[in-house]
Amino acid sequence: MQAVLTRSAISDELRSRFACAKNVVVLTGAGVSAESGVPTFRGGGQTAVWKGMPFDVISSAGTLERDLPAVWEWFNYRRGVLRTLRPNPAHEAIARWQDRFESFTLVTQNVDGLHAGAGSRNVIELHGSVWRARCLTCNARTSLRDSDHQEGVPSCFECGSSMRPDVVLFGEMLPPGAFERAAMEAESCELCFVVGTSAVVYPAASIPEIARAAGAYVVEVNPEPTPLSNICDEVLVGKAGEILPLIG
Ligand code: APR
Repeated sequence: MQAVLTRSAISDELRSRFACAKNVVVLTGAGVSAESGVPTFRGGGQTAVWKGMPFDVISSAGTLERDLPAVWEWFNYRRGVLRTLRPNPAHEAIARWQDRFESFTLVTQNVDGLHAGAGSRNVIELHGSVWRARCLTCNARTSLRDSDHQEGVPSCFECGSSMRPDVVLFGEMLPPGAFERAAMEAESCELCFVVGTSAVVYPAASIPEIARAAGAYVVEVNPEPTPLSNICDEVLVGKAGEILPLIG
């Protein structure tokens, strides 16, 4: 059984860098939401499968083209689950950090909206959000936060065309500008945290690499090793909800 880290596990090096840093970047993945009950895709929690279809099939551009109603059914189901879940101490710690530094950038691969739920502002959502729909024709966006949309394909309030979940599906490009903004901040940060990601999906996984190459101190928080562990200055092995509050 994995020992729960205690305050003493946080090195003096990290403590002093955390105390002095002006520009901090945090990249998160599904693992940061695991303790809230959100299934991860690859490691730690149960893997997501929908009606026998692996997540990367139901969440793909190909399925969107072939069967838009099926994609909506899957995202309606996910929103239904997420409505019952709450941010955990990892989300809350990161939200606290945003007012602590001159410049703070939170970049997430998650589409669950739990960072915003914990009070994080200006989150760079690299993969979009399940809480928004986007028109397939005019690109108009609408929030699904207060919507009880459960059936069928919603129509665009602007042009009447079909809407799609505003989530980046497998085989699709990231929203314009999102990665570029994140990369720019990574190039000038002094401290970069990589929390709860298997670091196998690019370009998100390149953010800590960019920060490292620019001389930042990179810290990984994950119960399991990842392809990034070797380039990190410090690896804190354990759950984000237990470790991040120990840092600050
Ligand atoms: N705290 C920290 N990390 C955790 C925890 C936890 N409590 N529980 C699990 N993890 C780690 C796992 O060890 C794993 O390395 O979180 C990681 C989750 O990895 P993935 O499921 O691959 O999720 P992620 O890295 O976010 O995937 C990237 O791939 O499927 C696409 O678009 C999807 O955004 C997603 C992207």
